[in-house]
Amino acid sequence: MEVGWVIHPAFGGKGYATQAASAILGTAFGSLGAHRVFARVDTQNHASVRLCAQLGMRREAYLVENDRNGNRWGSEYIYAILQQE
Ligand SMILES: CC(C)(COP(=O)(O)OP(=O)(O)OC[C@H]1O[C@@H](n2cnc3c(N)ncnc32)[C@H](O)[C@@H]1OP(=O)(O)O)[C@@H](O)C(=O)NCCC(=O)NCCS
Repeated sequence: MEVGWVIHPAFGGKGYATQAASAILGTAFGSLGAHRVFARVDTQNHASVRLCAQLGMRREAYLVENDRNGNRWGSEYIYAILQQE
């Protein structure tokens, strides 16, 4: 399963996204029966990179300029975590 997140800027920087994403991982690995959950993150998106690390997700890939992001080529990290982790 793939996970992604957007939080209203007025409520950023308070830990809500981490708490919500952690609950979503719990549901994915629990009642939804996921084996593996991954996230694709622009390498410049430092808040999202910190969130992945906070969730215990492993950085597994660095895709160089694989994604058109407005008028620039963006690079991505792929983070993942397994059910047993
Ligand atoms: C990515 C995104 C969801 C991260 O949101 P966020 O507000 O940074 O994450 P949290 O709500 O978990 O807040 C974490 C921050 O709150 C701080 N914090 C403050 N009080 C806290 C508390 N009581 N408990 C936990 N953390 C707290 C943490 O220290 C952390 O700060 P840091 O990032 O400077 O280390 C958000 O930036 C966003 O919506 N971005 C736009 C959409 C986007 O880019 N999505 C990702 C596409 S891949």
